[in-house]
Order: sequence, then structure tokens, then C-alpha cells
Amino acid sequence: MYVLGIETSCDETAVAIYHADKGLLAHTLHSQIATHNEYGGVVPELASRDHVRKLIPLIKQVLHDSQLHTGEINGIAYTAGPGLMGALLVGAATARSLAWSWQIPAIAIHHMEGHLLAPMLEEKPPAFPFIALLISGGHTMLIEVSGIGCYRLLGESLDDAAGEAFDKTAKLLGLEYPGGPALSKLATNGSPRYKFPRPMTDRPGLDFSFSGLKTFTLNTYQNSSQSDQDKADIAFAFQQAMAETLTIKCKRAIQQTGLKTLIVAGGVSANQEIRRQLENMCQKENTQIYFPRPEFCTDNGAMIAYAGCQRLQAGQTQDLTIFARPRWPMNELLSL
Ligand code: KG4
Ligand code: ZN
Repeated sequence: MYVLGIETSCDETAVAIYHADKGLLAHTLHSQIATHNEYGGVVPELASRDHVRKLIPLIKQVLHDSQLHTGEINGIAYTAGPGLMGALLVGAATARSLAWSWQIPAIAIHHMEGHLLAPMLEEKPPAFPFIALLISGGHTMLIEVSGIGCYRLLGESLDDAAGEAFDKTAKLLGLEYPGGPALSKLATNGSPRYKFPRPMTDRPGLDFSFSGLKTFTLNTYQNSSQSDQDKADIAFAFQQAMAETLTIKCKRAIQQTGLKTLIVAGGVSANQEIRRQLENMCQKENTQIYFPRPEFCTDNGAMIAYAGCQRLQAGQTQDLTIFARPRWPMNELLSL
């Protein structure tokens, strides 16, 4: 079964073709960073318009790269949420229309399920059950995963998502959008001068909160001389606080559930310091840790094609409705 995957939930137009036995055959992506850069964040209307321009050429490209013609595609998977409504609608309407004209099934995929399953694209995929730490621009969640669609939420952020906190802190320090990678680059010049709080780690539970950390960073910045070295030291302290907080919560989740496999996915999981601290902790806890390759940590079409292939193979399809849900709780997903 050849599945075309389409991702347009935010600021990346991404497309891929995944085959049930042969694996990933082609994937490509157009990033809108240059479009949104001058505004310091994603402008939803510009995002939708750019998806309209780029999606069909990218689909043609993956067909060409995988040497397939349209008649060989057996199903289409598209991100139906969560995300920006206009952006989602471009992917959903395109996917639905192509599926109708090619007379094949289409399936709506939850963006965070795509992230959660991204480690499955690697040579050594994790086996169920496992704990998933999902850290993206819009979500921070710890989930107990017993199979595809079998998700028990262990904890989540009560306010800002991890990526959002990175992006807001980066903006404060005068860095360009998207802030996460820029902040982590700046942190490499930083030294351990400041100690930032590790929010919600001194009380039980697996929820997160990052808005206090953001305020603490703001106050520290305002009370500093705002030199380049101050900025680098603040970036360093912020990243350390983020990495340690995520690591403490993951350790707690491992100890509470008794599960010995952790997967970490979503854009923030590309962060090298976070990866390093989580790896160290897992080694001590005798736990296997899995990450997607960095390009599949951030938004991509491969994870959507993969998730769609699993669901389509299990016989799931949907009617001809163009399905898009900007907010979509993960516990509403069907299990396989
Ligand atoms: O998963 P993703 O591509 O999109 C969403 O689903 O939100 O995640 C994007 C987020 C942004 O907040 C971005 O700043 C952050 O991931 N990010 C990083 C890094 N790379 C991307 N944060 C910290 N360090 C990175 N290296
Ligand atoms: Zn994402």
C-alpha cells in the first residue's frame, strides 16, 4: 500500500510517500520561515496562501522522486488538526479532492499522533508499550502509549508549550523566529552564571508549567546590562532549566508507570542539550530512549504518511467530508 501524506497544519508545507513494506520512499518540505520572519511569528493568512501555492508542486515532486504515477497511490493521509484552521483546510481539501478523483480512501490524521509515531520511521523503531514525551510549538504532553490510538495522558502543560516558551524567550533576547534553534545556538556561547527555576518539579504529578520560567527570564534580562554575554548566559540558563525540568518529569513517568521505553518527539526534541540530558537519565534508569532523526522532530510529511498507512491498513477510512479540527483532543482518536 502506497500512502501519500500531506502536512499543512502550520508553517511548513510537507509531503511524503510511505509504503507499508518498503518504508519511506520520498519526502519533501517547503518551510515558510522567510515568509513569516519579518513579522516575528506565523501570520495565519499568509501561511494558508503559501500552502495553496506550494502543495501541488510538492506532491508532483514526491511522485517524481519515488517514480510513481498517480494511479499507483492507494491512499492519502492528511493532517486534520490541531493547527491553524485555514492552513489545515488547504491540506484537507486538497487531500479529499485528490482521493475523490483518484477513487482511493483518505484519512484524517492527528498532528500530534504523527509526531508520536515519527520514531517508527527509524531503522530501530520502539516497541509498544512506551512513554511518549511530545514537545512542540503548541503542545507539551507525557503520554502512556499502549498501541496506535491507545493514549493515556499522564501530564501536560498548564500554560505555555515548551516550544512556545523557547520562542517567546528567544524573541525577548532579540532572536529571529523560529526562536528554538536560534536560542539553543546562542546558548553554546553561554556560561552557568544564572540558576533558573525548574517549575513544578518540587511537587508530585506530571504536569508542566512554563509561564513562570518565562517571567523569571524576563526579569533576569531586564535586571542585566543586556550585553551579548548576558544574553548568551540567559539562553544557557533557560535551556538548562527546560532540559532539566523535562528530564525530571520523564524520570518520574518512568518510575510511576514501570515502563522502560521512552520516546521523545516534536520540534523541541531536536534540541541537543535536551536530548543529552534525557539520554543520561535513561541510561541511569535502565530505559531505552528513542528520538526521530532531527528533520523528523519538526513538522514533516513522513510522519503523517506513516500514521495514515497504519490506520488505512487497519481498514479505517472516512466519508467525503473535508475534516479539519483546529482543536482536537487526542483521546478522541480510534484505537487500532
Ligand atoms: O513540532 P514543530 O515543528 O511544530 C509544532 O507542531 O508546533 O515544533 C516547532 C517548535 C518551535 O517552537 C521551535 O522553536 C521548536 O519546535 N524547536 C526547537 C528546536 N528546533 C525546533 N526548540 C529548541 N531547540 C531546537 N533545536
Ligand atoms: Zn508539529
